[in-house]
Amino acid sequence: MTDGFGRTIDYLRLSVTDLCNLRCVYCMPPEGVCKRDHGEICSLEELTELAAACVTLGVKKIRLTGGEPLVRRGILDLVKGLSALPGLEELTMTTNGTLLADYAAPLRAAGLNRLNVSLDTLRPDRCRALTRGGELERVFAGLEAAEAAGFRDIRLNAVLLKGVNEDELGDLARLAKDRPWTVRFIELMPIGPGAAMPDAFLPAGRVLEAVPELREMQSEGSGIKDQRSGNRDQEMGEQILRFARNDGAGGVARLYTAPGWAGAVGLITPMSCGFCESCSRIRITADGKLKLCLHSAEEIPLRGLHGEALTKTIQEAVRRKPAGHRLSDTQPSDSVRPMNEIGG
Ligand code: 5AD
Ligand code: SF4
Repeated sequence: MTDGFGRTIDYLRLSVTDLCNLRCVYCMPPEGVCKRDHGEICSLEELTELAAACVTLGVKKIRLTGGEPLVRRGILDLVKGLSALPGLEELTMTTNGTLLADYAAPLRAAGLNRLNVSLDTLRPDRCRALTRGGELERVFAGLEAAEAAGFRDIRLNAVLLKGVNEDELGDLARLAKDRPWTVRFIELMPIGPGAAMPDAFLPAGRVLEAVPELREMQSEGSGIKDQRSGNRDQEMGEQILRFARNDGAGGVARLYTAPGWAGAVGLITPMSCGFCESCSRIRITADGKLKLCLHSAEEIPLRGLHGEALTKTIQEAVRRKPAGHRLSDTQPSDSVRPMNEIGG
């Protein structure tokens, strides 16, 4: 599928629930969200039908998001159904990790290819405060279970928060020193409760100040160059090649590593430009609305459409995908929904 600006759209982010077992300060209001009527949220069959339509239109990668996808009843059946779709190359999930200890092995068996786990801090007390009750220990048990279940190329997502995890950037990044993980730092976006936290914005460049040994990994044609030093020693070369395949282990992240590190660090700067020009995504919310851009107010209801009516509606909508967002310090997201309903 191609949009009106010639961008190939091959990546679907499918939100399977707006509910979450945590209430991160930048994502959820303190009181949480009201549980919706059962009928408002798509059934597993409907979600599968919507995803299948996207795959027939050329979507090659699906990421399951929430809320927290693991609180959705029947999530394993959904993964099983989606992983069997012909033409789908990658099925991934973004989770807060709290239920992963129990779910990692069955998710793997159901056909999930990869995991992103949200982890903003390494201090149990901070984790509890930031997520309003989350237990860091459970997230690490989940990560261990994921490794044991055979998940590779695990990505951790840390939202950069001034005055909260500012002093932990080095510690978080260095998780990738001994483990083959990609620690991705995400700049706070002005959406949902995050829009009311302008003082918490911390630019991604701070990570490079905290860990000066990091070097950008850049793919240049067939050769891969270490930008900062021009150093091409064997070890670094092999490590970079490992990450350069596919979408470079980062998707929209700029990737960095250091000699001897098992993993990498990713910087995600949704606020600055460059992001939108190469956007390949569409989103579907748990109540069956197609979103062409995370930050746009436009939503196209897909529920009740089937077969050709469904594929035609998606295809025509994608042609109207906006060029980009206008986020800035003074311009918050136009999205009418908070993150827990879109899934990042
Ligand atoms: N800015 C940046 N990231 C956010 N997330 C939720 N809200 C925001 C925000 N305002 C991230 C979470 C998680 C993913 C689901 O979305 O940290 O990694
Ligand atoms: Fe839940 Fe993720 Fe939102 Fe935190 S960021 S409240 S874990 S959906």
